[in-house]
Amino acid sequence: MELRSARIWPGGWRVSNLLILVGSERKKGNSELLSRLAIRRALTYFDRGELIFLRDFNLLPCNGCMACIVGDKACPLSDDFYPLLDRIEWASHLLIFAPTYVLMPPAKLKLLLDRYIAAYPKRRKVKRFGGVGAVIALPEYAQFQLPFLNLFLLAFGFEPVINLEFIGAGPGEVLLDDQLLTKIDKLLTNLSKGEKEIGEGCCPFCLSPLLYYEKGKFFCPICNVPVELRDGIPVYSGSPRWNEATQEDHYQNWILKTRDRFRARLRAILKKKRELSL
Ligand SMILES: Cc1cc2nc3c(=O)[nH]c(=O)nc-3n(C[C@H](O)[C@H](O)[C@H](O)COP(=O)(O)O)c2cc1C
Repeated sequence: MELRSARIWPGGWRVSNLLILVGSERKKGNSELLSRLAIRRALTYFDRGELIFLRDFNLLPCNGCMACIVGDKACPLSDDFYPLLDRIEWASHLLIFAPTYVLMPPAKLKLLLDRYIAAYPKRRKVKRFGGVGAVIALPEYAQFQLPFLNLFLLAFGFEPVINLEFIGAGPGEVLLDDQLLTKIDKLLTNLSKGEKEIGEGCCPFCLSPLLYYEKGKFFCPICNVPVELRDGIPVYSGSPRWNEATQEDHYQNWILKTRDRFRARLRAILKKKRELSL
């Protein structure tokens, strides 16, 4: 296919590749229908587009074997994680459509998020943008949906720029939204331009409205930045933990260091296990 244009992206992308990831197992469900509408319009905004379904990938749960940090090896689980990661790495822009299951996205997205440590060294460290189309049946039963999906984007190296909600329970109900095509175009426009849409009181880094309270202070639990309430509205400051420098430091000086710390403590752990008959 001939490229529509060859743009230079901030992180060095010459071509814009949109990946749409569907996080629902339901065939012809709301997330699938929204993603099919979005991929049809994708070439208006991006050089290339691909639509993939998480349900087509076999993902096993991480069993904490620590091979990816202790042995510097690839993840030994025999599943589709690496082929899926290749598709994600191809993308300069990632758009996720996912339903809400018990206030948050379905478990398979968490299975993928749990492979963050194995994914990290393979990730291209360039600026990339992400967006979310959240399918929600009842807005007051979805408080972790957008925060989780934004966390997912950040963990895979995509800065969230746009979050939109689509309301529907039965398959196809989301199509009845009067603003359906306008919202799909908004997702694609903001994503392609890297234009952030920050809701009132939401974190300007991860876009999420969740607050965490500890010892008299509020934080954004995703970005770990302080939050003050001014006239009752959350105001965020500081630097989010998801910038590349902080992530690299976290990976090198915390995650990889667990290997040495564990090795140094192994004798003591074995002794303790004998004492406790474990
Ligand atoms: C197990 C299960 C749990 C659900 N929990 C929620 C929920 O907590 N909040 C909500 O808004 N919708 C919930 N729903 C409704 C789905 O989000 C809704 O049906 C959605 O349209 C499904 O999207 P899909 O067709 O793309 O799979 C749940 C549905 C199922 C099957």
